[in-house]
Amino acid sequence: MLKTLPLADRVQQLHPSPTMAIDSKAKSLIAQGKDVVNFGAGEPDFDTPENIRQAAINAINHGHTRYTAVGGIDALKAAIRERIRLDTGVEYEPDEILVSVGAKHSLYNAVMTLVNPGDGVLLPVPYWVTYPEQITLAGGVVQYVMPDPQHEGEPRPDDITKVMTAESRGLLLNSPSNPSGVVIRPSILEQIARLATEKDLWVISDEIYNRLVYDDTVHTSMAALPGMRERTVLINGVSKSYAMTGWRIGYAAGPRHIIKAMTSLQSQSTSNPSTISQYAALEALMGPQEEVDVMRREFDRRRRYIVGRINQTAGLDAANPQGAFYVWVNMAAWKNRQVGGRLIRNADDLALAWLELANVAVVPGSGFGMPDYFRMSYATSMERIETGLDRMQNLLETAQ
Ligand SMILES: Cc1ncc(COP(=O)(O)O)c(C=O)c1O
Repeated sequence: MLKTLPLADRVQQLHPSPTMAIDSKAKSLIAQGKDVVNFGAGEPDFDTPENIRQAAINAINHGHTRYTAVGGIDALKAAIRERIRLDTGVEYEPDEILVSVGAKHSLYNAVMTLVNPGDGVLLPVPYWVTYPEQITLAGGVVQYVMPDPQHEGEPRPDDITKVMTAESRGLLLNSPSNPSGVVIRPSILEQIARLATEKDLWVISDEIYNRLVYDDTVHTSMAALPGMRERTVLINGVSKSYAMTGWRIGYAAGPRHIIKAMTSLQSQSTSNPSTISQYAALEALMGPQEEVDVMRREFDRRRRYIVGRINQTAGLDAANPQGAFYVWVNMAAWKNRQVGGRLIRNADDLALAWLELANVAVVPGSGFGMPDYFRMSYATSMERIETGLDRMQNLLETAQ
């Protein structure tokens, strides 16, 4: 009999993405014909705008179907530099930009380039599920920065210094945050920047939701703060702002020597991201920008509605998210109660009850480091949001 072939240690410590797990469970129920309202999605429900789709078709028809330079075509790099300049005020040279296969890949390249085995990487909680996995894969040690409950999820320098050790080498920041929607205010970001400079930390700043901010929130880039351009790898991409998740284009901007090493790594793993997608991303960044705001306004409408309804529901509590497209809900008041005949110990139990008994998918917070919370994505239509919230409330009303 064939013996099972052994796997390398590094993949044995990987956990599959819990956000993908609930999403695939919801999708399999949908495939069985169940009418599931899916609040699990991490991608806009809008189609990629027409001009961008057309640019990809043109790219194919004009023969842009071969390899490009590993780090991306010059025109796209120029468009990225211009976009970053407009959004953050920071200017980069072409060799300080790397285009990759989605922002997740940009992050992977950055983590693999900066983290040595044993290095401490400071990571505010709640975090996007991929960060600890990538840090661990690089042999790094995740140093979880717990938020002070009084600061509504905004990480503060004091929270960071509490867990910092002599091994701490870097900080991974994500503002606007997935899952909490928190946008770190400029004054706090400045304090964090000062700490990073004092302690000689690098910062990977994942700003992929920078154009999805609400009310009068202003997003500040870490790279724009004094002294930070030299120690920051800025991550962004077209997936979220332009409804282009499937096209797989992300990018990193940072100090030349870091980008050079990241590019070498990419040259020996994926090579260039899809040529056709690069031309589509070029159109996204250089073409008309109105669609970004149309989508943002629709997200904003849904955000207000969900937060309002959640906060009218007994035992659920959500802060007003200032960015991204997620509402982060505290369900602690439901712990140790019976819902639909089931004992609820944490958000995992509640999410499973909603999925199996009410056909609604939300993502439990355990994968983001906070098991008493769940994440609801509002990248689904208003009508579906209303139906989903009705179902969630109805099930809770059966509680004892
Ligand atoms: C915080 C954050 N960073 C990065 C990504 C990855 O984006 P991409 O689709 O460009 O790989 C996501 C996607 O969910 C995200 O939420």
